[in-house]
Amino acid sequence: MTVDEDQTARPAAASPELEGRLGFGAVFTRHVVAARYADGGWSGATLQPFEAISLSPASMVLHYGQAIFEGLKAFRAADGSALIFRAADCARRFRRSAARMGMPELPEDVFVEAVRAVVAEDVDQVPSAPGCSLYVRPVMFAAEPSLAVRASTEYVFLVVASPVDSFFAAGRTMIDVFAMRELIRAARGGTGDVKCAGNYAAAMVAKSAAVAQGYDEVLWLDAVEHRYVEEFGAMNCFAVTGRPDDGTATLVTPPLAGTILPGHTRATVLTLAARRGIPVVERPLALDELTDPDGSVTEVFAAGTAAGIAPVRTVGGSEGVLRKLGDEPGPVTAALAADYAAVVRGAAPAEDGWLIRVPG
Ligand code: COI
Repeated sequence: MTVDEDQTARPAAASPELEGRLGFGAVFTRHVVAARYADGGWSGATLQPFEAISLSPASMVLHYGQAIFEGLKAFRAADGSALIFRAADCARRFRRSAARMGMPELPEDVFVEAVRAVVAEDVDQVPSAPGCSLYVRPVMFAAEPSLAVRASTEYVFLVVASPVDSFFAAGRTMIDVFAMRELIRAARGGTGDVKCAGNYAAAMVAKSAAVAQGYDEVLWLDAVEHRYVEEFGAMNCFAVTGRPDDGTATLVTPPLAGTILPGHTRATVLTLAARRGIPVVERPLALDELTDPDGSVTEVFAAGTAAGIAPVRTVGGSEGVLRKLGDEPGPVTAALAADYAAVVRGAAPAEDGWLIRVPG
């Protein structure tokens, strides 16, 4: 058997012609930042060409899956600079994920500088068209060659970047979601509230089942009763109850109770809603509330770094379509999506520490 090494290295230049056809995570910029952990300490992080890396077949990540990652974006601002959104928050969550997975914690300043360096080196690859951005993916994995069942003593930290447009297939902007009742994503005490690769590995089969039935994304329910909404496959979940025109609109999202990921887009949406004076309630949200056409839920949307703010069109399940919410984003979803787009591109005020500007 031969391994085609070209499959592992596919940098491609973003260009105005490509914008709108980039998809998600299919092309990469020319450089990465890499650092190694061994003998109890980190090597200096260095900028390197994007190319295949050499790994022992016994590397522990291949056998036991000790791996964590982050996701953040750089956006093109009107003045031509690139704005990196919430890098410091990602650095903090990366440390928390590392601690949960028995991995060494990367200093936050090293993380942030690595992200800044990758964006700065290939800043020409930050797309400028609406809906496009440079997705930055820091990852850390166990690299010690060993089959011993314990935490690795060696790790690799990498930051790769990918010019992207729509997260969903065929540029879908409104999504159909499939409520999964048979499988669960996370239970208390597990790893659901950290960003480890295994959470996503174990979820692929559910995503595939959803897609096979014509849906865009899976909607996970709680592990105990299979009744309360947790999060989508790669985004947090929000519902709007009431309506803005009669002053009753309220934003509802499940609380961070140990099984869902504390998303930075989630946190941003909560801030943006507060700025608009929309009341926010973090409480358990039953699937029945989302699907009851006579109930108080008027809008549902997903929020995540990769997907942005994605309005939900349909909620379905194994018995078929449970609720059609509408073919257009609801007014609260549309307003928050517009606010988000303005903040990340520097067109509306950001909170302290949200943006790092990289000259264009
Ligand atoms: C993100 O939204 O950045 C994520 O990491 C979720 C997914 C792409 C795995």
